[in-house]
Amino acid sequence: MIVAVDGPAGSGKGTVTKRIEKEIGFLYLDTGVTYRCVALEVLRKGIELNEEDKIIEIANKIDVKIQKRENGDLILLNNEDVSKEIRSKEVTSIVSQVSSIIKVREKMVELQRKLAEGKNVIVEGRDIGTVVFPNAEVKIYLDASEEIRAKRRYEENVQNGINTTYEEVLENVKLRDYNDMNKKVGALKKAKDAIVIDSTNLTIEQVVGKIIEIIVNKGNK
Ligand code: DC
Repeated sequence: MIVAVDGPAGSGKGTVTKRIEKEIGFLYLDTGVTYRCVALEVLRKGIELNEEDKIIEIANKIDVKIQKRENGDLILLNNEDVSKEIRSKEVTSIVSQVSSIIKVREKMVELQRKLAEGKNVIVEGRDIGTVVFPNAEVKIYLDASEEIRAKRRYEENVQNGINTTYEEVLENVKLRDYNDMNKKVGALKKAKDAIVIDSTNLTIEQVVGKIIEIIVNKGNK
């Protein structure tokens, strides 16, 4: 079974889907890491964002592997552990633009489908229910207000030792929303058959409970 969870940055997709992996044993797949790996390589190679051909070349060449670990997945970019680095401010500020390049998306979608092949998975991203797995058995669109999403990201950064202010994070959330929703291909949008959950006033447990209920109901049909 494939469960697609889409929604904007900070809507709680990551936290919630990780929790569901623990509770019902569905494998959790964070598709954002594939774009973050391309963005990291772009930064490391000193490539400018307008050098699309070079960015596409990177997307075609890189090897991304995800290994399950107790305390968060291990992300391997060309066999190097980049789990922390792909969450840096620098990567976060360019990843949306990198992920707007159509040929980069085509390659990453191919990779994401391979990573999920033949498994019970809960996949989170922006275009999972619309593009990557349009036939997913369950589709969720997770939303929350801009302010609460920025607050959650800010607190996550503090925990991970990333030095930012709340205002900086809020600006970044707004900018990323705009970029994510206005992409020519793979834009963030609600699939027609997605169930919307607004997490602004819900606890993590409540959101997890709702999604598990939806999955179980589907499985019983
Ligand atoms: O979920 P995240 O913040 O790690 O995602 C990083 C970026 O990748 C985000 O700006 C949008 C993009 N992305 C995408 O375009 N499609 C996906 N399926 C997942 C992420």
